[in-house]
Amino acid sequence: MSDLRPNRRSTIKSLVLGSAAGFSANLPETADASALIELEQIDKWSRTHDRVWIGEEFWSNPMEDWRINDGWAQCQTSAEARSIHSVTRQITNVDESFAMSIELAQSVPLKNDGGAGFKLGVRSDINEFRSNCFAKNGINAGIIGNELVIGNARAALDIKPANSHVILSIIGARKDGNYILQMVASEPGTDKKLGQLQTQVPAQQLLGNVAVVSQFSGPKQRTGTPGYKFRNWLAGGNAFTHNSDQSFGPILWTMYTLSDSRAEDGFVLKLTAILGPVGTDDSADVELQVKHGDAWTTVGKAEIDQDSWTATHRIPNWDETTETPFKVIYQQEYKSGKPTVHEWAGTILPNPIGRPFRLAALTCQNDYAFPYAPVAENVVKMKPDMLYFSGDQLYENHGGFGVIRGPAKPAILNYLRKYYQFGWGFGEAMRHAPTVVIPDDHDVFHGNIWGESGAAMKDLERGTSSKGGYRQPAEMVNVVHHTHCSHHPESFDPTPVKQNISVYYGDLVYGDVSFAILGDRQFKSGPEHVDTGPGRADHVPDQDFDTNTLDKDGLVLFGDRQELFLREWANDWRGHSMKVLLSQTVLGGAATHHGGFKGYLKADLDSGGWPQTGRDRAVDIIRPSMALHINGDQHLASLIQYGVEKQRDSNWSFCTPAIAVGYPRWWRADDMNMPHKNRPKHGLAHTGEFLDGLGNKMYVYSVGNPDVATKRPRYQRAHQKGSGFGFVVIDTDRKTYTLNAYRFLCDPTDDAEKNQFPGWPLVIHQDENKGKNRVR
Ligand SMILES: [Fe+2]
Repeated sequence: MSDLRPNRRSTIKSLVLGSAAGFSANLPETADASALIELEQIDKWSRTHDRVWIGEEFWSNPMEDWRINDGWAQCQTSAEARSIHSVTRQITNVDESFAMSIELAQSVPLKNDGGAGFKLGVRSDINEFRSNCFAKNGINAGIIGNELVIGNARAALDIKPANSHVILSIIGARKDGNYILQMVASEPGTDKKLGQLQTQVPAQQLLGNVAVVSQFSGPKQRTGTPGYKFRNWLAGGNAFTHNSDQSFGPILWTMYTLSDSRAEDGFVLKLTAILGPVGTDDSADVELQVKHGDAWTTVGKAEIDQDSWTATHRIPNWDETTETPFKVIYQQEYKSGKPTVHEWAGTILPNPIGRPFRLAALTCQNDYAFPYAPVAENVVKMKPDMLYFSGDQLYENHGGFGVIRGPAKPAILNYLRKYYQFGWGFGEAMRHAPTVVIPDDHDVFHGNIWGESGAAMKDLERGTSSKGGYRQPAEMVNVVHHTHCSHHPESFDPTPVKQNISVYYGDLVYGDVSFAILGDRQFKSGPEHVDTGPGRADHVPDQDFDTNTLDKDGLVLFGDRQELFLREWANDWRGHSMKVLLSQTVLGGAATHHGGFKGYLKADLDSGGWPQTGRDRAVDIIRPSMALHINGDQHLASLIQYGVEKQRDSNWSFCTPAIAVGYPRWWRADDMNMPHKNRPKHGLAHTGEFLDGLGNKMYVYSVGNPDVATKRPRYQRAHQKGSGFGFVVIDTDRKTYTLNAYRFLCDPTDDAEKNQFPGWPLVIHQDENKGKNRVR
């Protein structure tokens, strides 16, 4: 029980500058060799229960490869470049000194020893603490075999310790434009010096995050052999800025909805707290408190679900008329010592009635632009009544370190830490407004999703983009659904689909508006049912291909169950006067070019334009609802009116700009000489009444075509690629929707025309969604 042994190292609170490493002669004259650097222990691993999540002060890369094990933070693989970043301490003031120490050891003797120790000056192009966690640069400072290493400098150890078990101490003192870095390895328990190394590096190189690394180099693929383990991480010195507000967890963020059940439960608050994977020995529940007047009252305790590490509160008969501060509270237990109490506070907004409803609509966040601050901050600034994220809250490559396809447990952890980046980026926005968030293909680790009512994908070796069914274990898919939708109102019909996979379609009534929430591809047929010719089963690259042949009998789009729901919803006008359909993608092929400026595709079966008969039937069902359809997925903003019998006889669709466009698309109808009629009076290119590549009728009012990306800095690149967000103002008095498509870099609170893509904003009336057209 190592946790109960007093640890000598943790009682050492300071290192004497210079003398510790015996290099005082080389210190700058301005440095006071007797100055103390107060060191503070920054981890609690010796007291933490065995578990995956290593604590709120850290980000582990990747989370699934680390465990707290018997008082150590232990890497579970000898694969290379696994790291733990401090998220609360960065080196920001390179005029000052710093020092750190840590105890480390190989978990087992490593054949492929790539060393371990610190990494200094890890920073992204924006040197922001969250994005720095995923940067690959920095200076290694550690032990590799029988040497100490700082950058390119090396020094042999006097004595080689077994399993590289050492205490590594490093001190940095500024001299001219450089830091003198002094590192010492000493024997745990005795403090006997085993070796030392001094070098100099340009001071600016140390700006950024500090981390510890298991295996500076090593196998590229995960191995079953554990790597290094660490404990007693101490840090100090005025070069560091310590900001405990930057801690992340144990409550990572919350999401909630408020919805009028129009039944005995009245307005129902559902609120989910997302926690890091705390362990089975940790506290099992999360408390919800609300503030009335000056008093905080506990309104519920919710048990933590141990697959998704979430806790969902459901409070019926909520007073929707007042703004209510809330906090969720989690008590973190330790193997010894006092528990710590953690809170996440926010606001339950009042039901927005008697004024226009403000909806922020977002989609697709590719983490080259993480943490998406220009969008996240603009969303907060716009004070939305609700947030809507329509899918691709993550991509498979997020945070690096690959995709785990199975078994379920590691696949879930691999998913969760990618999803956590979403909360890290948008948690502040979600803290103070209701949120609807639906999963799309990448959230379940697919290039495209053709859900086939929950079937398991066959022929697993040939990618995930062009085949029906789910590739990932059903348990993981359910965790994806649960972490996205557990705070939504209950599903219309919660009966699971094949493999016991959950569903989440249903309605939400709020602010005099009824929202239908769909999983628009959960039941959809896969493209193997039709023949698109050579190449990918879901792509039609040939402009002369007859796409009518792809509209075969029996193909499914929304599926019978969701169609039944939509029929009821379209005709149920209790408790609201306007409707919005929220789903993943647009019911039409609103892109001519995919992946590259010249990547022409006549048709993409992943669009909601296929199968055509299912698409027409879906539009026929939603027409009486006069709903605006808000979707995403395409990474290409578009404003379209659907047609079935004739052009412009049905609902409008707003496909919002992606938060950060990865794979780009273009709508270049004029360049492809596609015939059109009735170009809108603004006269913009590529607009008017078209048949898409699948033959669907659509009136293209505007598109937000991107530039070809040339810039590298993340935010400029995202801007150039046509990123941004949608903002819809629903005026339930005037019965209008005002549609805004904001660019990535803008200030949406001024009315500058350049803030929006060409063709936005636009006001449409409710009845234009059934073809009573005013827009010209
Ligand atoms: Fe996407």
